[in-house]
Amino acid sequence: MSKIILTGDRPTGRLHLGHYVGSLRRRVELQDSGEFDKIFIMIADAQALTDNADNPEKVRQNIIQVALDYLSCGLDPAKSTIFIQSMVPELTELSFYYMNLVTVQRLQRNPTVKQEIKLRGFSDDESDNKKGTPVGFFCYPISQASDITAFKATTVPVGEDQEPMIEQCREIVRKFNATYGDTLVEPDILLPDNAACLRLPGTDGKAKMSKSLGNCIYLSDSAEEVAAKVKGMYTDPLHLQVSDPGHIEGNTVFQYLDAFCKPEHFAKHADCFVGRKSSFTFNNLDEVKAQYQAGGLGDMMIKNFLTAVLQDTLEPIRARRAELEKDIPAIYETLRKGCEVARAEAAATLADVRRAMRINYFEDGKCTL
Ligand code: TRP
Repeated sequence: MSKIILTGDRPTGRLHLGHYVGSLRRRVELQDSGEFDKIFIMIADAQALTDNADNPEKVRQNIIQVALDYLSCGLDPAKSTIFIQSMVPELTELSFYYMNLVTVQRLQRNPTVKQEIKLRGFSDDESDNKKGTPVGFFCYPISQASDITAFKATTVPVGEDQEPMIEQCREIVRKFNATYGDTLVEPDILLPDNAACLRLPGTDGKAKMSKSLGNCIYLSDSAEEVAAKVKGMYTDPLHLQVSDPGHIEGNTVFQYLDAFCKPEHFAKHADCFVGRKSSFTFNNLDEVKAQYQAGGLGDMMIKNFLTAVLQDTLEPIRARRAELEKDIPAIYETLRKGCEVARAEAAATLADVRRAMRINYFEDGKCTL
C-alpha cells in the first residue's frame, strides 16, 4: 500500500513557533525523507470558517500568509501538494454522507471539540449576548475525516490536540467499511517525537501559544520582535537573584530550549554565557540546566542564548519569506495547481464512495425498477 500524508492548518493567523515544532518542521523532514508516495498539505479555510463565518476576509488573507509560512519553512510544491480546502468541493459531499455515520452524542464527547467550545464561549444558554455553537463548527471533526480519507491518507502528522479527531476519523472509516464494504483507508496519527514539541507553551508560560492570548512568536516576526518577546518571557518566579537556585520545571525558556537547541549551538553561541561577573562554558543543555538549578546562572544569559538559538532557526525562514513575498501571484499559481491535483484525488475517492454506497445511479447499469 502506498504511504500517503495529509495534514493541514486553519488559516486564522500567521503560523508560530508552536506550529513549527509541533508539525511544520516534521513535515519538511517527512517530505525530504522520500518515504512517502504522496503528500498533501491543506489550508483548511472551510474549517476556519466554521467559527469565523462573519469574517471570511480574515480567512482569505491568512491563506496567503500560511502558504508563505509553508514555503519559507521548506515545504516544496514539487514534492508536496499544497491546496485550499474549499476549492475541493468533493470534501463537502463526503462529509454529508459521513454525517450519517456519527451520532450527535459521539461528537459531544470529542474532548477537543468540548474544549474548543468552552474556549470560544459557545453556550447552551443562548439568552443575553451568549452565542450557541454553530452546527458547522460542531461537525468539523467529520469534515476532517473527509479531508483525511479523500486522499486515502495513511499518515496524519499533527499535534496531540488533534488526536481525538484522528480517532473519530478512524471510527468513521471502520463504520463506513463495515456498512458499505472496504473502501476507505484507516489513517495513523504521527505525533511529534520530542516531548518538548508536543505542546510548546506561550511566551507567558500558558499551556498553549495562541493568537488571542498574545503569547506567540511568529515565524514571520522580525529579529527585533523575537528578541523582545524572549526578553519578556516567563521563567521561574522563584529565581529572584542570580545566585538563587533556579527551577527548570515549568520554566518556559527551558521548554523552548528543549525544543530548539541543537548540539552545535553551544560552541557557536558560547559568548552568551560570558558575563561581566561570571562566565560559563557549556557543552550541552544538561550542563546549562544543572548550573541554573545550582544557582549563579541568570535569566538574562539563558534568554540571550535562547534568542540566539531562535534566530538561527528563524533567519533562513525569514530570508526565504522575503524572497517569496516578491512574487505573490506565483504563490497563488502554486496553490491553484495544488488544488487541481487535490481535486482529482478527492473526486476519485468520492466516486469509490458513491459506488460503495450504490448511489452512483447512472453508472451501475441498473436502469430497472
Ligand atoms: N484541525 C486542524 C487544525 O486546527 C486543521 C485540519 C483540518 C487538519 N483538516 C485536517 C489537520 C485534516 C489534519 C488532517 O490545525
